[in-house]
Amino acid sequence: TSNQMWGGRFAAGPDAIMEAINASIGFDKRLAAQDIAGSRAHAAMLAATGIVSDKDAEAMREGLLTVLSEIEGGTFEFSTALEDIHMNVEARLKEVIGEPAGRLHTGRSRNDQVATDFRLWVRDQLDAAEAGLVTLLQACLAQAEAGADWVMPGFTHLQVAQPVTWGHHMMAYVEMFGRDLSRVRDARRRMNECPLGAAALAGTSFPIDREMTAEALGFDRPCANSLDAVSDRDFALEFLGVASICAMHLSRFAEELVIWSSAQFRFVALSDRFSTGSSIMPQKKNPDAAELLRAKVGRIFGANVALMTVMKGLPLAYSKDMQEDKEQVFDAADHLMLALAAMEGMVRDMSPLRDNLEAAAATGFSTATDLADWLVRVLGMPFREAHHVTGSLVAMAEKKGCDLPDLSLEDMQSVHAAITGDVFDVLGVHNSVASRTSLGGTAPVRVREQIARWKEILS
Ligand code: ARG
Repeated sequence: TSNQMWGGRFAAGPDAIMEAINASIGFDKRLAAQDIAGSRAHAAMLAATGIVSDKDAEAMREGLLTVLSEIEGGTFEFSTALEDIHMNVEARLKEVIGEPAGRLHTGRSRNDQVATDFRLWVRDQLDAAEAGLVTLLQACLAQAEAGADWVMPGFTHLQVAQPVTWGHHMMAYVEMFGRDLSRVRDARRRMNECPLGAAALAGTSFPIDREMTAEALGFDRPCANSLDAVSDRDFALEFLGVASICAMHLSRFAEELVIWSSAQFRFVALSDRFSTGSSIMPQKKNPDAAELLRAKVGRIFGANVALMTVMKGLPLAYSKDMQEDKEQVFDAADHLMLALAAMEGMVRDMSPLRDNLEAAAATGFSTATDLADWLVRVLGMPFREAHHVTGSLVAMAEKKGCDLPDLSLEDMQSVHAAITGDVFDVLGVHNSVASRTSLGGTAPVRVREQIARWKEILS
């Protein structure tokens, strides 16, 4: 038997393989609530413009609520023969309310319908990402505040570079996640236009009111061009782009947590709640959540590349290729939300090990730059010469198997006679960080200013 929606032109129904490749109901049932919200708005508009009677529109709006409750209650029977969520809902509406259901599709197409439903869905995800980022930012801020002046090694090339503060390191992630938050908000603002009423591609001859449906669905305005409205998926790509950058940030933090919780570093203790044990090694406490977070980025980048590739080179307007947008975005969104929540939990629960951080801060000749700066400031030495003198002192300390502050004044003076005992003041890690008061620097006074600024922003 041919399809009930377009059977007029068809003598035969689809091959089983055709049905299998064509159907999207297996995944787009996730758009049910959005589809029904869109149809209810459309029905109200059809009545307000006199295109259908108030009585028919009321029957549609009520019937759609019945269908929604069946779907939410798990009693709805999805049919692959009906391809997608749009036709499944409409066919059931027909069973529930009869003839008026056939008037619902006046002045619209599945093309503007799916574009509208998907925008609504992605918009909800942007809102969820915003909420997840705000709680994560608060967790990072709490960590920064607790250890604003704790010293730890700062790294470049993962080699000890200069001492920094724990608060400063946490606030670096606050800046990153803060930009993710602003990207989420930007994307939402840009995508919040309503495709409904673009119909198949060209608009419609019915006197529809697109402003009305746009407003009812919480959009800022209708999309201005009907061809663009049904064929654009850059709102979804922008979500995936924002999600990719955010996942990349999460993976960097996750990698640091993996390193920091190792026996070799012991910078942090992750909570039991976000760790797992080993089935064979009784001593093990593994940072599995951090590792999975480090890996989630793979599928999110993958979704971004996949949809970019689907959309690339597609002629206007709608092509069935675009049905491939949804699974990518669904998967990426699910895993981004999970990753944000897991990171928030790990950050909130972890205990930075202050003594280990401080002991590590002094290793690796981390205050060599402070020594060179002292030679410039106090002895008036050109920086290049100071760099060389300090390098010789580092070599000496390395040879003696000690750190810079362990060298005697005589040792120092054997390299440069004018060095005085004051130099030892700058070799302490606390003095080192306290001295870095330049804007954006690691000094606790600066870090506390940034914490206060972010608390203000998030309040
Ligand atoms: N299931 C389709 C999709 O996800 C809905 C739009 C179908 N439109 C069409 N002209 N076949 O893209």
